[in-house]
Amino acid sequence: MSQERYFLENTWYAAAWEWEVEKADNKLARTICDIPLVFYKSETEGYVALDNRCCHRAAPLSLGRVEGNCLRCMYHGMLFNPEGKVVNIPGQDHIASTMAVRSYRVSAKGGLIWIWMGDPALADENDIHDFAPLSQPDEWRGFDRGDYLHYDANWLLIVDNLSDFSHVAFVHANTLGGSEAYAYDTNIENLEKVDNGFRAVRWHHDSLPPPFHKKVIPEAEHDTPIDRCNSMAMYIPGVFLMETLFAPAGWSEKDNDRSQCREYRNCQFMTPETRNTTHFFWDYLHNRDRDNPAITQSLKESFIEEQQKLLVKSPDFVPRSFSADEAFTHFRMRWKAKLSEENNNNPLPEPKENKRRIL
Ligand code: FES
Repeated sequence: MSQERYFLENTWYAAAWEWEVEKADNKLARTICDIPLVFYKSETEGYVALDNRCCHRAAPLSLGRVEGNCLRCMYHGMLFNPEGKVVNIPGQDHIASTMAVRSYRVSAKGGLIWIWMGDPALADENDIHDFAPLSQPDEWRGFDRGDYLHYDANWLLIVDNLSDFSHVAFVHANTLGGSEAYAYDTNIENLEKVDNGFRAVRWHHDSLPPPFHKKVIPEAEHDTPIDRCNSMAMYIPGVFLMETLFAPAGWSEKDNDRSQCREYRNCQFMTPETRNTTHFFWDYLHNRDRDNPAITQSLKESFIEEQQKLLVKSPDFVPRSFSADEAFTHFRMRWKAKLSEENNNNPLPEPKENKRRIL
């Protein structure tokens, strides 16, 4: 029976913050979609991603040494170039063409390194979701550096959670939601289903500021009603982008005078490490009182504390839906359709018999 992929390959995954590679002595071992990889920064060719298994005796290349644009395996000293080809074997002139490991397309944007796990000929860097606020420090202030979390949960469960605004009122009543009225009084407007995900807008009019927002505004404004808008997008394979606006109650969107508004920008990138574990990259940015680190800290704490409550660990859990779940139902449908397309268009090869076995 032919095998089928579980992970989409022809898509861009957030793989690492650039600072993670620098911090790890310019080489980072990271598994993505069940494939162990090594990332390193070459001298003149940017970031490189290779299979993290030397083709000689399977030593991890992440234990190797960066030399210019190449990476040397520190077991027997073979040197790999950014295309994954061996270009030097100590004490040997001839290098067989089979001496190579797989190299992957990567690209750096917004402080993140992105990787394309599939056919490199299909990779278009314009398809990477470049979240502009991450590259606009004069307008938006986020964490000192983008944050990384590791979850013992399947990445689609996190996607489901972020796509589901109806839980915010109940689970996050004391932080992000503010009151159960958020569930009863608001509906997703303008749900736009697109080929690779969805976009949606949700307004909550004339309500008190939610607790996470109260923490960052003057006390005198705590009982002043506001209009609140969340405008969000979720894209395959797991890219969540959100714009949040808090305006004085009765604010007219048409006038678009934002001088009295406070705004936040939030990005979260979910990348499968394995079926049961997820790499999670995120930042939360704001555009008022940018030099006040207490705001960033407060946003970070509110979010982390709440996020931990939500994740179901079972990878086999299949969620049931009600009408508020239309967005993530569409997302899962599109993801499955794209996966089937990849499996149909490019079936995985049958496992080969190992002719080199001697026993
Ligand atoms: S295991 Fe890498 S050179 Fe031998």
